[in-house]
Amino acid sequence: MNVFNIPISDPAGPPGLVSSLVEGIVHSPLQWPYLLSLWGCLLLGGLYLRKAAKLPLPPGPSPLPIIGNIHQLLSKPLPETLLEWHQKYGPIVSFQSGSRLMVSIASHNVCQDLMLRKGTLYNSRPNIVVAGRYATQGLHIALMPFGKQWQAHRRILASVTTENASRKYRQLEEVESLQVMLDFLSSDDFSAIFRRYSASVTNALGYGRRLTHGDEAEFHEAEQLARRLVDVIMTDFHFALVEVFPILDYLPGFLAPWKAFGKKYYSEATSFYSKNLLKAQSTPSWNWVKHSLTRPEAQDMSTDEISMLFGTALQAAVETIPSVLRVFVKAMLLHPECLAKAQIELDQIVGHDRLPSFSDMSSLPYINAIVNECCRWQAVIALGLPHCNTQDDEYSGYRIPKGTLVFANAWAIGFDEGLYNNARDFLPERWIENPELPNSAAFGYGRRVCPGKFIGVDSLFINIARMLWGYEFAHGKRKVTLWGIDHAFTSSPRDFDAEFSIRSAKHRETLEKLRTVADTDADVILGKIEADYQA
Ligand code: HEM
Repeated sequence: MNVFNIPISDPAGPPGLVSSLVEGIVHSPLQWPYLLSLWGCLLLGGLYLRKAAKLPLPPGPSPLPIIGNIHQLLSKPLPETLLEWHQKYGPIVSFQSGSRLMVSIASHNVCQDLMLRKGTLYNSRPNIVVAGRYATQGLHIALMPFGKQWQAHRRILASVTTENASRKYRQLEEVESLQVMLDFLSSDDFSAIFRRYSASVTNALGYGRRLTHGDEAEFHEAEQLARRLVDVIMTDFHFALVEVFPILDYLPGFLAPWKAFGKKYYSEATSFYSKNLLKAQSTPSWNWVKHSLTRPEAQDMSTDEISMLFGTALQAAVETIPSVLRVFVKAMLLHPECLAKAQIELDQIVGHDRLPSFSDMSSLPYINAIVNECCRWQAVIALGLPHCNTQDDEYSGYRIPKGTLVFANAWAIGFDEGLYNNARDFLPERWIENPELPNSAAFGYGRRVCPGKFIGVDSLFINIARMLWGYEFAHGKRKVTLWGIDHAFTSSPRDFDAEFSIRSAKHRETLEKLRTVADTDADVILGKIEADYQA
């Protein structure tokens, strides 16, 4: 603590500099006249500096020249390192990744203060060189800086993802989760089954076509496109370097391989997404593309821009929903007592003769609690997406300079013992004992909050409720481990196996009777959704 009672961390500058300067002055032959004039200068300079430098940065580990804290960031996955720093320095931590200043926030209230209550100040995005500037040419909605273009994209997406609009998609989610239930009768490949669900829901809503088998060309192409970008960013040294030192982007093309990669990737992505856009326009059914093309914001957009808007927004959904469902399977394997408790609730409320549906949602508190707990316990977008402030700011006695990358660290917020007792434990009961507990960190904050949040939560609810209604879970060959997590674009449980067996002949019979419902054509469901919109 200093005299202003502001908690400060390790000093950011070289530690010996100030003391050696003071010693040199005191031992000089001209010391007293020199000291007096220096005092005058310091007084004037101090007044200026107090205004300019003012407050300290938030606490954090001391950076080295040039590389900042990179040497401390490489030994472990970033969410784990940041969690340790939060334990040491408190809920707001600053660190330096090369030339970029970053701030991680491990407090729900601070995230709300900065990202919600400070208006638009913290709702921009930093310049992400490879994925943002080159591979998507500034047209990725999640990477766009705050401004008119982002607002236009966001308004279009908001028109089909509000809470009210998302309720209309429940009939589609019920049909798709029925397909999930049937798929589990013959396969234990839960990751593939959940990925198909997510891709099919988004493809049907976005472009008007369900992906019922998971082997459709657009399914593979979308997966491959997403994976290629993540892989190259995670593994190529040059690509990582330019994100840490964006100044390297001034290098000519032959020294900057990300430029050629980005150009090729962008051309492939726009060609794939535009094909989807054309298909969507030519399907008989209602879909997001058709709905959105009539909106005023879309009138000045090029085909590339509109196709990128839907391509990138839908991609955001495809990875996240399956990752949370993998956390759910892991939790049930590790906590059979929760599975048993959920099944008691389902048997009482739903019985064996029908599947749980959205109409049961308000009568299934324990299932809703499991959904919340899966999102909190091991948040799949562990650090959120980086926000960026567009002006210098001060908060709680700290300086946060313009352009800082600010992370709403969902991973660390989930471990906030002030909010969640025994935070490392999977305890759905906490949500029933205290319904006021904040559950939003997994979906982000402020104006950049996930627009697909309602679709996400509904998808988690219906799949989790039905899986628990119909199946017993058992460990498979590759055992699940509590903290085995692969942190890439999402932080997903490390690969493990599980085996699923139907709970009874009666459950199987109920499921089999619904086989034809699972084959419902997208046009029929989307027609009903359109009618709902018009009602
Ligand atoms: C369980 C599922 C999901 C989770 C956990 C999740 C999580 C997140 C998070 C943490 C963010 C960053 C928010 C921030 O910057 O503060 C985000 C952004 C985003 N999500 Fe989701 N998401 C999910 C489902 C979806 C779905 C279904 C869609 C598609 C409609 C979607 C589309 C997006 C988009 C477009 C953004 C970028 C928003 C912007 O920058 O303006 N997400 N999501």
